Amino acid sequence: MAGKMRIVLLGAPGAGKGTQAKRLCAQFDLAHISTGDMLRHKLAHGTALGLSAKKKMDAGELVSDDIIVGMLKDRLEEKDADAGCLFDGFPRTEHQAQALDSTPARPTAVVDLDVDDESVVERLCGRLVHPPSGRVYHVHFSPPKIAGKDDETGDTLVQRDDDREETVRERLSVYRRQTLPLKSYYGKSPVHYISIAGGGDIADISRRLIAELQSQN
Ligand code: AP5
Repeated sequence: MAGKMRIVLLGAPGAGKGTQAKRLCAQFDLAHISTGDMLRHKLAHGTALGLSAKKKMDAGELVSDDIIVGMLKDRLEEKDADAGCLFDGFPRTEHQAQALDSTPARPTAVVDLDVDDESVVERLCGRLVHPPSGRVYHVHFSPPKIAGKDDETGDTLVQRDDDREETVRERLSVYRRQTLPLKSYYGKSPVHYISIAGGGDIADISRRLIAELQSQN
């Protein structure tokens, strides 16, 4: 995999990782590897792993490192990851970061999207999703053409179970305790580290990110 782009997207819940991941993957032709989406996919298929993960997810806690690292390593075996990939919501602990660094897919760039807590709460409490496609909307910031309906299929949009305010605040506190230390982990490593303000216009954030990544590649 040497020479390929492998980007880690860090950032609090609701920082806009999924939103920016879709744009960056389209721009650079990368495989989108979202551990949150993978867990929700397993849950939708009724697997034991999905069902046990749901308890943690609904409580706003992290799923165990063993489960996540095992799932990630299986995902890296898939062919599309060879051409480069973007990790969205992974790693979330130092153990996960070390596990990734021990594979041939160690990151070439780490992007930290920085958003304040109150914006996160506003974003997540207003988020609507279309689970079959993964399309994401926001009631104010990125509304569907018809309120409550998916633009492509007309299906009814839903709120994620973990997007209730109380759970969002717990996710923020878990993020501060377990994931924020990764800033210093990557700060000490030779990887290209980009910190970018995640507030404001979605397309403008993408433009700044793409420019930063192109300047280093
Ligand atoms: P996961 O699904 O990864 O959730 P998350 O990291 O909490 O991130 P979100 O998906 O909530 O937000 P996002 O940053 O992608 O924001 P988005 O672009 O959607 O994980 C869920 C759970 O799974 C975890 O809590 C944990 O239990 C488990 N898990 C997953 N990975 C794990 C791991 N590695 N280890 C252990 N456990 C793991 O945007 C949010 C909203 O804001 C949208 O409505 C969007 O339209 C809007 N928006 C986006 N950008 C802007 C903007 N610039 N201005 C205004 N609104 C915006």
